[in-house]
Amino acid sequence: TRRITVHDIAAAKTRGEKWPMLTAYDAMTASVFDEAGIPVILVGDSMGNCHLGYETTVPVTMDEMTILSAAVVRGTKRALVVGDLPFGSYQEGPVQALRNATRLVKDAGVGAIKLEGGERSLPQTELLVQAGIPVMSHLGLTPQSVNTMGYRVQGRSDEAAHKLLRDAKAAQDAGAFAVVLELVPAELAAEVTRSLHIPTIGIGAGAGTDAQVLVWTDMAGLTGGKVPRFTKQYADLRATLGDAARAFAEDVSGGSFPAEEHTFH
Ligand code: KIV
Ligand code: NA
Repeated sequence: TRRITVHDIAAAKTRGEKWPMLTAYDAMTASVFDEAGIPVILVGDSMGNCHLGYETTVPVTMDEMTILSAAVVRGTKRALVVGDLPFGSYQEGPVQALRNATRLVKDAGVGAIKLEGGERSLPQTELLVQAGIPVMSHLGLTPQSVNTMGYRVQGRSDEAAHKLLRDAKAAQDAGAFAVVLELVPAELAAEVTRSLHIPTIGIGAGAGTDAQVLVWTDMAGLTGGKVPRFTKQYADLRATLGDAARAFAEDVSGGSFPAEEHTFH
């Protein structure tokens, strides 16, 4: 088996095939998704919320991204692994972006990187692509800008919709191989999808994009508390794991574990 490449992703759009992307933050979970045939796995900076216990994605560091991206690469054989550039690792300019993207490619082994912003991240995208690093762009709601943007649907005004279209075209012209559209109206996401030759990957962006991404802990029901309306929950891992932990605790306090078959003499 060989790894999926950005060329396979481009070919899927030509054939009109829709495809799924999931996040992962560790080798074991990534191996499950890889064996399930998920073609693209994102080591998202959503690890800040979902894996590391931060309130937002803002505190995530390059060290954290590099260690967990390497784990996901080791856990997979076939998927294209995409690593997020975390907040503060590319905003200073293209040289900083190249230095940090190079770390994810060389030290962690990712096949592509993702960064937030269209026109505002143009010089970064151009330099990375020139250097041979495939870039996935991320538009619409960009969680690293939570302190100015908040968490709400983007691109609702005519002006904001035009800006999103401009950003998407700019990312494509700079050489990005795909664009994530987060929390934008379905009609706008479909229009962006039609106007680009590179694939769009939606999250909370309706059914008109070329691909769909979900945060794995949300789609598997592991996240505690409220999950966004755009998420579909395909499993109830939080209840399953809680039940397992409670059953283990009962067995230990009741003396039924370990039993004879778990015991050496
Ligand atoms: O970090 C992440 O999980 C993401 C996806 C929601 C696209 O950026
Ligand atoms: Na992200």
